[in-house]
Amino acid sequence: MNPLRPLRAALATPLRVQRTRAARALVVPRRSLATATAPASASVSDKHVDVEVDEDVELPVGFKVSAPNRGGQTAGRPIYLDMQATTPMDPRVLDAMMPLFTEQYGNPHSRTHAYGWEAEDAVEKAREQVASLIGAGAKDIVFTSGATESNNLIIKGVANFHKSKKRHIITTQTEHKCVLDSCRFLSTQGFEVTYLPVGPTGLVSLDELKAALRPDTSLVSIMAVNNEIGVIQPLGEISAVIKQYAKDQGVSKPIFHTDAAQAVGKIHIDVDAMGIDAMSISGHKIYGPKGVGAAYVRRRPRVRLEPLIHGGGQERGLRSGTVAAPIVAGLGEAARIAQEEMDADHAHIKALSDRLINGVNAQVSHVVRNGDADHGYPGCVNLSFAYVEGESLLMALKDVALSSGSACTSASLEPSYVLRALGATDDMAHSSLRFGIGRFTTEAEIDLVVKRIVQVVTRLREMSPLWEMVQDGIDISKIEWAAH
Ligand SMILES: Cc1ncc(COP(=O)(O)O)c(C=O)c1O
Repeated sequence: MNPLRPLRAALATPLRVQRTRAARALVVPRRSLATATAPASASVSDKHVDVEVDEDVELPVGFKVSAPNRGGQTAGRPIYLDMQATTPMDPRVLDAMMPLFTEQYGNPHSRTHAYGWEAEDAVEKAREQVASLIGAGAKDIVFTSGATESNNLIIKGVANFHKSKKRHIITTQTEHKCVLDSCRFLSTQGFEVTYLPVGPTGLVSLDELKAALRPDTSLVSIMAVNNEIGVIQPLGEISAVIKQYAKDQGVSKPIFHTDAAQAVGKIHIDVDAMGIDAMSISGHKIYGPKGVGAAYVRRRPRVRLEPLIHGGGQERGLRSGTVAAPIVAGLGEAARIAQEEMDADHAHIKALSDRLINGVNAQVSHVVRNGDADHGYPGCVNLSFAYVEGESLLMALKDVALSSGSACTSASLEPSYVLRALGATDDMAHSSLRFGIGRFTTEAEIDLVVKRIVQVVTRLREMSPLWEMVQDGIDISKIEWAAH
C-alpha cells in the first residue's frame, strides 16, 4: 500500500502541464470523440490520426481515429485475414493510451508525486479490467510483455519452484512454439515432459491425460484455443481430471496452466468455474497494443513460482521492471471492450465465418476443414485445398493477407506440426490456409475473398497434372511413383 495515497485527494490538483508543440498537435475537438468511440460507424481512412487544434479543449480528450478497414478493402492494401497473428488495434484503445504517452508520463512506481499516482491509477484500473474479463481478482494479474513471456514465466517458474520434489510436466503436441520450447528447455535441465497427442480434430483425450498424470507432475499446460485450427480444449473437464487424480492419489494437485492468448476476449473464460490456476494473455490478439500481456497467477490457493526477471520487485516480485503504463492501459481498455462486446463480436465473426465456409464449399470441391467444427472458435478457419500447393495459393492470393499454418513457422516450408499432429498428410498440410476473421472484418471483404479463392484454386488446379488425373477418375493414392 502506498503510504502517501491518503494524501492524494488533497494534493492532486488537476495536472496542467505546459502544452508542447507535440502535445498541442494531439488535441482535437470534442465532436471527434464520436468517431473515436464508435468504430462501427467510423469512416475508413489510411491515415488513422487526423490532427486538429482546438485551444478550448483540455487534454486529454480523445483522438480522431478511424476504425481499421471497416467497410471494405482499404485502397491498395490487402484484405487482412490474419487475426491469429495479430489484430488491428481498436481505436478506443489508442484513445485510452494516448494520455499516458503525452501528459501522464509518470513512473507508476513513483510514490511521491501526482505523476506517479495517476500512472499507477491507470495501471490498477487496467489490472481490474483484465481480471474482470476472466473472472479473476485484480491482485492475481501480473503484467508482462505478452503471452510468450507469460508462458515462459509460468512454465519455467512453476517447474523450478517445485523441482526438488516434482520434475514432471504435461503439455500437448499442438501448443504454441513458446510453450513447446519452454518445455524443451526444461527437459535439458533434468525435467521430464509428456507431450500428449491430440485426436484428428485437435482435441486432447481426457483418458490420455489421466494416464499421463504422476505423483511428481508439477504442471499441466494445455492451451485454450489453438492458433492454427481454432480448436477449443475442454478446460473445465481437464481441470476436473487433474483435481480428481490428486484426490484419488492423495498427492498435491498439479498446477493447471492454459495458454489463452487466442481465447481471452473471444470466448467466455472464468478461471474459478474452469479451475484454472495460471493463464497467459496477449494484448495484441485482442485489439490491444503489441508488447504487452498478462499472466494470471492464482493467489488463493496460491500458485508458487520462481520469477524469471529479478529487480525492483514489481508485480508481486514475479516480474520486476517498470510497468509499461501506456500499453498496460491499452490492454485494460481492450479487455473492457472485449468483455462488453464479446457476444456481439462472436455473433458477427460466426456469421462471417459461416459465409466464408459456405461460399467456398458451394464453389470449390475437395476442401477439408482442419479442426473441430463443433468445438472451434469461428474466427479461425483452417482449410486444406487438395491438389493445390499452399505456398502457390498464398502467392496467388496477394490481395489477401493470410497465413499458412502459424505465423511464426510460415517462414519455413516444413508442413505445420499442428496439422501433422492431427494426422493430416504432408500434402494436405502443405495445402492449408488459415483465415483469421475479426471484429473489423466485413461481409464485403469475405465475399471478395471467396471470389478470389474460387478463381485462384480453379486456375491452379487447371495447371495441375494431379488434378487432371483426379478428373479422369484415377485414384492417385494408388499410384506407385517411380523414384529418381
Ligand atoms: C497460442 C499462442 N500463444 C502464445 C503466443 C505468443 O503471444 P505474444 O505475441 O503475445 O508473445 C501466440 C501468438 O501467436 C499464440 O497464438
